[in-house]
Amino acid sequence: MSTASLILMSICVLLLTCTHAKIGYFWHITDFHYDPLYSPQGDTRKHCHRTDDRGSSGHHRSLGRFGDYACDSPLELIVSALRYMRTRHSENVEFVLWTGGIIASRYSGKDVDRYQAIRNMTELLRMTFSSHFVFPVLGYTDPAPSETLTNLWSHWLPLEALQTLKNGGYYTIEQTQSKLRIVALNTNLFTVREQNTVHARRQWEWLDSVLEKSIANKEMVYIVGHAAPGSDSRHNSISAEANEKYLRTVRRYARIIAGQFFGHLHADTFRVMYDKEQPVSWAFLAPSISPHREQGGSTNPGLRLYKFDTDSGKVLDYTQFYLDLVAANRADSGAEWVAEYNLTQYYGLRDVSAESLHGLAEKLRTNTPHDATFFSRYLRAYNVKYEYADNCDGACAHQHYCAITCLEHVAYQQCVEATASALAASGGSATLIAPLVAIVLAFIASFIVI
Ligand SMILES: *[C@@H]1O[C@H](CO)[C@@H](O)[C@H](O)[C@H]1NC(C)=O
Ligand SMILES: *[C@@H]1O[C@H](CO)[C@@H](O)[C@H](O)[C@H]1NC(C)=O
Repeated sequence: MSTASLILMSICVLLLTCTHAKIGYFWHITDFHYDPLYSPQGDTRKHCHRTDDRGSSGHHRSLGRFGDYACDSPLELIVSALRYMRTRHSENVEFVLWTGGIIASRYSGKDVDRYQAIRNMTELLRMTFSSHFVFPVLGYTDPAPSETLTNLWSHWLPLEALQTLKNGGYYTIEQTQSKLRIVALNTNLFTVREQNTVHARRQWEWLDSVLEKSIANKEMVYIVGHAAPGSDSRHNSISAEANEKYLRTVRRYARIIAGQFFGHLHADTFRVMYDKEQPVSWAFLAPSISPHREQGGSTNPGLRLYKFDTDSGKVLDYTQFYLDLVAANRADSGAEWVAEYNLTQYYGLRDVSAESLHGLAEKLRTNTPHDATFFSRYLRAYNVKYEYADNCDGACAHQHYCAITCLEHVAYQQCVEATASALAASGGSATLIAPLVAIVLAFIASFIVI
């Protein structure tokens, strides 16, 4: 072999190793809804808390040690989730996103109790991820930003982040090894109640300046928060004004936003954001650890592990893990968390991009039989394989499609109403009206006979 070809070969090897993307992982965990008062002797009508009232039977069936679909999480469920996470990919996990909803809303009204519960959860996470950073954000059931809260999380965050966390509940983190920035939002400041506060105004200004700086520094950005933007029949927690503002921000900075990650909905779903009808950005909503969903059913507890390119931040895939709660409560051996599905494989996606997810959303429209089976695949994931979830008919399926693709409140309403009238035109409502007419006629007839 000539010297020239040897040199050529070594250059190739060098180039290969240089351009080879470094693969990393990060966890996304959300909505523990830890309830220290959960008891296997509890009452499902009272959030699975113990009551002295033992009069009525039927509500005092013995509840599972890992929780119940009607209630928030016992300690044992959370401990089992964290224990499982530790067994997976511990070396190349880069960080953990923890998107709020730490405490069950029914637990206690007293701040000191809630802090104690958050302290305990923080300690558990510290023990589980002793050499990793956990990036927490605040949800609706969590206490307002304060010195106390900031102190609890001071080992995970640099000084500058602690400062903005203490004042407004938001912060940003620069990943030292790469050009990736994490922007943790306080979505509580997007609610009708808080949207006009000084802190809410400051967060918008701060967000703009962080994103401008990221453009200048050629960084990619992950936006992380508790409640996702958009419109959903269940959780309309972000005000229309804040929602619009957020979507405008995403459109403006779409080219540097490598992903948006939210929780809160207690469901596994996603959102696609458009600019002039072109898909430009996406958000993933991870399911909760809590099996209880406030409205519209329950889910199995879920955990999510993202796979990403640590240099560019590009999300490559995720694996969704879950716990079959019924089986876990039945087994003597304890909770067995397992992989539920892998995103790209499950939906047959070429990659994780706004375009691919737009394609997936289009496939979920339910006007062809092929898409109906595809939709049930989505729905199974949405409920984290909880089998007794509510039925979802054609109108319901279309609402899912609207929630995924129409994030402006008005556009969502129009999308939903368009289906309602389409269904009516195609005779969907006639099947409802016909029996009603029959009943009324029968009623009138009964008078005539008398
Ligand atoms: C927190 O942990 C301590 C020590 O293990 C325990 O005594 C306490 O009951 C726990 N409190 C809550 C609210 O979980
Ligand atoms: C998903 O991918 C992981 C790792 O890449 C693999 O271990 C697992 O078996 C896959 N799970 C499913 C349900 O396809």
